[in-house]
Amino acid sequence: MSTPTVHEQLDSALAAVEDISTANANELADMRTQLLGRKAGLLTTVLRSLGGLPPEERRDVGARANEIKRQLESAIGRRESVLAAATAGGDTLDRSMPGRAVWRGAMHPITAVVDQICDIFRELGFTRVVGPEAETESYNFTKLNISLDHPAADMQDTFYLSPGIVLRTHTSPMQARTLENYEPPIRIVVPGQCYRRDAWDPSHAPVFEQIEGLVVDEGVSFVDFKAAIDFFVKRFFGEETTTRFRPSFFPFTEPSAEVDVQCHICSGSGCTTCKYSGFLEIMGAGMVHPAVLENCGLDSERYTGYAFGMGPHRIAMLKYGIPDIRILFENDMRVLNQFVE
Ligand code: PHE
Repeated sequence: MSTPTVHEQLDSALAAVEDISTANANELADMRTQLLGRKAGLLTTVLRSLGGLPPEERRDVGARANEIKRQLESAIGRRESVLAAATAGGDTLDRSMPGRAVWRGAMHPITAVVDQICDIFRELGFTRVVGPEAETESYNFTKLNISLDHPAADMQDTFYLSPGIVLRTHTSPMQARTLENYEPPIRIVVPGQCYRRDAWDPSHAPVFEQIEGLVVDEGVSFVDFKAAIDFFVKRFFGEETTTRFRPSFFPFTEPSAEVDVQCHICSGSGCTTCKYSGFLEIMGAGMVHPAVLENCGLDSERYTGYAFGMGPHRIAMLKYGIPDIRILFENDMRVLNQFVE
């Protein structure tokens, strides 16, 4: 390729004027050096070579080169002040930068499970309410028929905030708060965090979610409870899932029960998750103890009810086959990303 003539060089310099108005700061600095640089800039080279031209050409080429140089200087100058003004005005946005990937958020699996559970109970007429996490001993224990020297108070290994004030060890205090403040018929679900001085191991965490349920009205029986739980379990774990009620003990319910669901990992045939029993415990429950109703000013001859408390962490682990509860607290993106829909 032959070296470009002086006119071709000037043509390319003129073409560059077009690009100046959209150049970013770096491109503009490069253009200034390449076109107007004092040592090797295109225009400098052309003007320096004028002496080698025949005298009759020298004048015209010189005039054209100077005109183009003037155009370039003013275009570059204008662009420089536009960029400088944008920076000085606090607008540091570099419109030439590649865009950032858009992150799609998702609900944490525990939040999603709590919402799903409360939504199912809403279909049965339950209202979702919340209560305080810092509770008095009275609401957390004594109104629920748990005396402070009862092993149940001990068993729950309570965090005390100050004398008489605890971090609630369960959501059951909201049974008492609701019974004191509302007239039956009462149907509530109460999701919220609870605290116990528990180990931090694959199946325990010192803070965990519970959902309390409470129904109190005239003529409520254990049959109503079984029907509601059966509806919930089938809706949440699948139509084929069976439940099992085992006798248990809680000071605030009589009779008390624990509810197991068929292990949905092995469909009841036995696996490591259900320790080969075919069933997994999902909640404590029972008929509200008459003493609790009386403690809250209700006539236990007239009203009966049932209550239950379930653990969404536990339920989420069962539903999604998560082997260690701590995974649900760590917010590892590799886990959370699996819940982005
Ligand atoms: N509060 C009980 C617990 O935390 C669960 C429960 C709630 C049991 C309501 C019976 C009725 O273990």
